[in-house]
Amino acid sequence: MPSAFACVDLVKEFYTDSVRQEWRRLVKDPVRRLELDTTLHFLAPYLPADGAILDAGGGPGRYTIELARRGYAMTLLDMTPANLDFAQRQIKRAKVQQQVRAIVEGSIVDLSRFADASFDAALCLGGPLSHVLEAEDRVRAVGELLRVVKPGGVAAVSVMGRLSVLALELDLFPEEIDNSLHAQIRDSGSYYGGSGFTPCHFFLPEELVALFDGGTARVEELVGLEGLTSRLYKAAIRAARHPERWRRWLETHYQTCTHPAVVGLSEHILIIVRKEEHIT
Ligand SMILES: C[S@@+](CC[C@H](N)C(=O)[O-])C[C@H]1O[C@@H](n2cnc3c(N)ncnc32)[C@H](O)[C@@H]1O
Repeated sequence: MPSAFACVDLVKEFYTDSVRQEWRRLVKDPVRRLELDTTLHFLAPYLPADGAILDAGGGPGRYTIELARRGYAMTLLDMTPANLDFAQRQIKRAKVQQQVRAIVEGSIVDLSRFADASFDAALCLGGPLSHVLEAEDRVRAVGELLRVVKPGGVAAVSVMGRLSVLALELDLFPEEIDNSLHAQIRDSGSYYGGSGFTPCHFFLPEELVALFDGGTARVEELVGLEGLTSRLYKAAIRAARHPERWRRWLETHYQTCTHPAVVGLSEHILIIVRKEEHIT
């Protein structure tokens, strides 16, 4: 098993080599848009009309740009410099520079450059927390995200789901079921790289909820971002060719994506929490 430092390097290397794929990931087609659209759908009602937002692990800046367009004062943080360079160019191209306060290189595990209660909301979307392999570092990252949020503000974190990745192995990598990797992911959630993806911790929903159990925040939403569409990419692409059929499917998606069974099986799981008012 590689050390925590080696895992960080592998993750950085992976995202350095996939900047453009990451930029396209959330908007490639109607099915890929589910993660972005469902996140924004659930997040928007919890955001104030204006204010400061930290996009931690924001990668090439999709959410930073989208929320800057909506008038928020954004700070983008990521540990991969190639993503930040790319984000800087996209922010300029989108003409939202005046809404972006800072673009900084750093880790979600240590947000000490930011004062307590300095943001109205802190986001950590699309899996940055899944790339933190040490359990105590995940606890630290969640503590940091909550620390920098004002009392009454929100934190929104989405991670990669464990049950969904086990099903993916049956579909795409059945030979992995024959070796210890499958059981390792099933039993611990952790994968240390070497088989096609970068090191990653895959979450059960209850594990994600437990990270926020410390009494400083209450859970507002738990959402399966791809919901019933998870691992049904080809079928969903076919359905999306029929606009009315897709509209009705999206209705079903939004009605079912908070059902506990659907959350558990989703590719990405989003939690939105509100920091208690009495915490300073
Ligand atoms: C799947 S991308 C998500 C990017 C963006 N939030 C989105 O949803 O499009 C994961 C990002 O997390 C970043 N990341 C991974 N571990 C991190 C850490 N410990 N601190 C900060 N960023 C991290 C990677 O550099 C990468 O840009």
